[in-house]
This record gives sequence, C-alpha cells and structure tokens, in this order.
Amino acid sequence: MSEVFMTLRPAAIDDAAFVYRVANDPGTRQASFRGEPILWGGHLDWYAHRLADPRYVFLIVCVDSGSANYVRRKPAGYVRFALRDDEAGAEAEITIALAPEHRGRGLAARAIMWAMASERLPHSVRRVVAVIKPSNEASLRAFARVGFETESMEPGRVVMTLRSNPYLAYIPPT
Ligand SMILES: CC(C)(COP(=O)(O)OP(=O)(O)OC[C@H]1O[C@@H](n2cnc3c(N)ncnc32)[C@H](O)[C@@H]1OP(=O)(O)O)[C@@H](O)C(=O)NCCC(=O)NCCS
Repeated sequence: MSEVFMTLRPAAIDDAAFVYRVANDPGTRQASFRGEPILWGGHLDWYAHRLADPRYVFLIVCVDSGSANYVRRKPAGYVRFALRDDEAGAEAEITIALAPEHRGRGLAARAIMWAMASERLPHSVRRVVAVIKPSNEASLRAFARVGFETESMEPGRVVMTLRSNPYLAYIPPT
C-alpha cells in the first residue's frame, strides 16, 4: 500500500451529502443495527441536529489526492462519538465508516486513533465503547489493533471498550 496522508477535521453542514453517501452505502447499512436505507430528508434533519448537539463529536476523515503541484484534501469517511455520563464517569460511543472506495486500504485503525486524539473529544471521557456486529471482521480487527478489548459478546453484537484513552493529547495538570 502506498503512503496515504490522513487528516481529521470537524464535520460541517457542507459535508451532508458526503456523509449521506457513506451512511447509506449498502456496506454501512449492513454493519448498522438499523439496516434500512436512509432517506435524504431524514438524514439532513438528523445530521443538522448532530452537528448542533454539544454531546456529539462528528469528525470527517480526509485523505490527500492529486499531484505534487496540486493536493486536494478529500473526505474519505467519518468518525463520530456520542457522549454520555454514567455512574463511572463520562464515556463515548464511537462509530466509524469509510467510503467504499477507501476501504481495505488499512486506513481504519489510523482514523480511529486520530479521532481518539482529537481535541474535540473531552478529556473527561474515560471509556470509549464500540458496538460491532460479530460478522464485521474489518471493524473488529481495526478496533482491536488500536487497543480496544472485547468486553462482552452477545448474539448479534460485540461490545469493545478502551479505557483511559491513551491517545488524548497531554494536558498539564492545572
Ligand atoms: C469498518 C471499516 C471502517 C474498516 O475499514 P477498512 O478500510 O475496511 O479496514 P482496513 O483495511 O483498515 O483493515 C482493518 C483490519 O481488518 C482486516 N480486514 C479488512 N477487510 C476485511 C474483510 N473484509 N474481512 C476480514 N478482515 C478484513 C484488515 O486486514 C485489517 O486487519 P489487521 O489490522 O489485523 O491487519 C470499513 O470497512 C467500513 O467503513 N465499513 C462499513 C461501516 C462499518 O462497518 N462501520 C463500523 C461499524 S462498528
């Protein structure tokens, strides 16, 4: 595989069509626990609410394309976190999806790591959870590669967690 330059940036309303394409892709729908196709109107509403929600972190994974003279940073997928509090403290549920043309290139683990290191993810988050279908080998392997461990296996779903996010940028104690 050739070297791919990857960056992450906060999602914007202009990414709505790209996010829709990736979220509605048959591979993504198959991996989702709500498998039915997504309608554009419902997507726009859902997406605008997610962007406005302070308990949600929505990041776009970009890769460089073009030539040495002209580099274009192209959206390649997204990583999102739903934040919540429980008795053990703040936690986040992570979801990743790459556009079909960017799958199978070994990008997933790096995108997860970069997202976990994002300054957008509050430092109070001590536990990150991924809920994955047992048949989703690529997702299970990508999360395992960055240190997630299987917490539980139920019929139809595997829960993987990472505690004490090791990827958060160091913030000196105040
Ligand atoms: C899940 C997803 C992000 C993984 O990205 P990817 O680009 O396909 O995976 P990568 O190429 O980075 O490979 C990740 C690992 O899975 C393995 N892998 C990739 N495709 C695989 C497949 N079809 N079957 C088995 N293993 C596979 C790779 O060898 C790699 O393993 P390694 O780290 O041990 O070498 C991507 O497939 C995707 O967007 N799928 C649709 C949405 C989805 O499933 N989201 C996750 C919901 S929890």
